[in-house]
Amino acid sequence: MKEHTLVLKSISCTFEELNENEQLLISKAKQATENAYAPYSHFNVGAAVLLDNGEIISGTNQENAAYPSGLCAERVAMFYANSKYPNAAVKAIAIAAFTNGQFIELPISPCGACRQVLLETEIRYNQDIVCYLYGSTEITKVQNIKTLLPFCFNADSLKVK
Ligand code: THU
Repeated sequence: MKEHTLVLKSISCTFEELNENEQLLISKAKQATENAYAPYSHFNVGAAVLLDNGEIISGTNQENAAYPSGLCAERVAMFYANSKYPNAAVKAIAIAAFTNGQFIELPISPCGACRQVLLETEIRYNQDIVCYLYGSTEITKVQNIKTLLPFCFNADSLKVK
């Protein structure tokens, strides 16, 4: 029997400690929350995705009276970005959430299904996707999606060995 220990690195910082490009991406995610369709949860999420062609694509959560038919902001942004620019790698994503009249204080992290989608893109383009999780009191920066999703299932898992 062998015990393994995983070390997961993340950075906590303030908005002011980030550079101009990072701040812009976060601002786009915050702005996007205004366009969320969240009449059931009243939890408006915005995601902004930076592509390697310089484009920033944003997305918002889209809810539905049949609850499971809705989709998170991260996947809306990722799928829209790839539909528009199928050859562009994703370099970074910023996520923000607004509820009860204010941005949440502590950052939210993408749900498991969104992590799975982000991971597939990271592997597909062999390009780390840096993740910025916005909170009004602190921002968390994670270097790649593999960090967010250890013990992941991916295309290699489908290969019979
Ligand atoms: N949601 C997102 O859009 N992204 C997340 O990272 C977490 C949750 C959405 C789904 C649903 O519309 C609402 O937030 C409440 O769960």
